[in-house]
Amino acid sequence: MGNYRIAVIPGDGIGPEVVNGTCEVLLEIGRKFGHTFRFDELLAGGSAIDATGDPLPAATLAACKRADAVLLGAVGGPKWDTLPGKSRPEKALLGLREGLGLYANLRPAVLFPQLAGASPLKEDLVSSGIDVLIVRELTGGIYFGDRGRRDGGLTQDGIAKGEEAYDTEAYSVLEIERIVRLGLSLSRGRDRRAVIVDKANILESSRLWREVTERLHPEYEDVQVEYMYVDNASMQLVRRPSEFDVIITSNMFGDILSDEAGMITGSIGMLPSASLGAPGQPGMYEPVHGSAPDIAGKNLANPLATILSAAMMLRWSFSLENEAKAIENAVSRVLSEGYRTKDIAYEEENVILGTKEMTEKVILSIV
Ligand code: IPM
Ligand code: MG
Repeated sequence: MGNYRIAVIPGDGIGPEVVNGTCEVLLEIGRKFGHTFRFDELLAGGSAIDATGDPLPAATLAACKRADAVLLGAVGGPKWDTLPGKSRPEKALLGLREGLGLYANLRPAVLFPQLAGASPLKEDLVSSGIDVLIVRELTGGIYFGDRGRRDGGLTQDGIAKGEEAYDTEAYSVLEIERIVRLGLSLSRGRDRRAVIVDKANILESSRLWREVTERLHPEYEDVQVEYMYVDNASMQLVRRPSEFDVIITSNMFGDILSDEAGMITGSIGMLPSASLGAPGQPGMYEPVHGSAPDIAGKNLANPLATILSAAMMLRWSFSLENEAKAIENAVSRVLSEGYRTKDIAYEEENVILGTKEMTEKVILSIV
């Protein structure tokens, strides 16, 4: 029986709806399995800008550091879109990732067989299932590299280019090693096949990724390692999605590929994520989808990605595998019974539920 303190950041848009329901799901797990979950609600993102002027108030980061894990909804919305880079809601996410040292982002893209028809891919491509784990580096690369504006100088013909903006992709051996090690160890609990996705035909940083991986591979001999350029990988993901097991990649490529992987599994509304740092540090759990301001407050959002993120929290932060499975099985059961939120409904016999009703169904299905 455990006692867990969870820092909860509902955030903006549909964030509060999906997060509140997920806390109810956790409380039900607590009742069934004899754990206590305490929630500490915190401000970050647009709502924090409105309340304090700062997308990530120091008090929020400090409280997250003290917690056993962080549950986050989503941040951002049109209201804050015109703010300069440093004061945008997204800054909260980057600040949390950096501040908590969350260098590894696990994004499983799993096609629930019940939702095969919701995938935009042809049936024969998805009939053997999709179960990809994207392991995205999260605190390095172009997201955190040197950036700025400068004078662009002259073209070869002596014409002034005007102002120039730049961002930098930089990766150190330490950063590459820890993410590749994690990805390869995770492959061991799966199909033992990892693909390093990069752009080594162009980028020096990608060439270092390959060098480091080659050096580490002997320690993980039992895992098959392949290298793939990101342009090819984005094509192969729609051409033969079932053949991927683990994808290990940089911050930017992981951002892009995880949206693609999400789409082919039917709906981004189903995809959970875990962001992990050094052992003993709190992990952060959030749905892959954004704040969806267009449907916020309408009881239309799909809560399953956030609920499944809570399952990842139980598994990765608290080592509560049975409890994690209990949530995943409940979600699967509800889908088998034909219940759907609007984004994943595609058959006439589907029963369409709102956010609250879907959450209740999941709670009732936890055994
Ligand atoms: C994600 C999001 C974020 C990212 C944005 C909102 C900063 O797209 O988590 O995938 O680019 O990492
Ligand atoms: Mg993204």
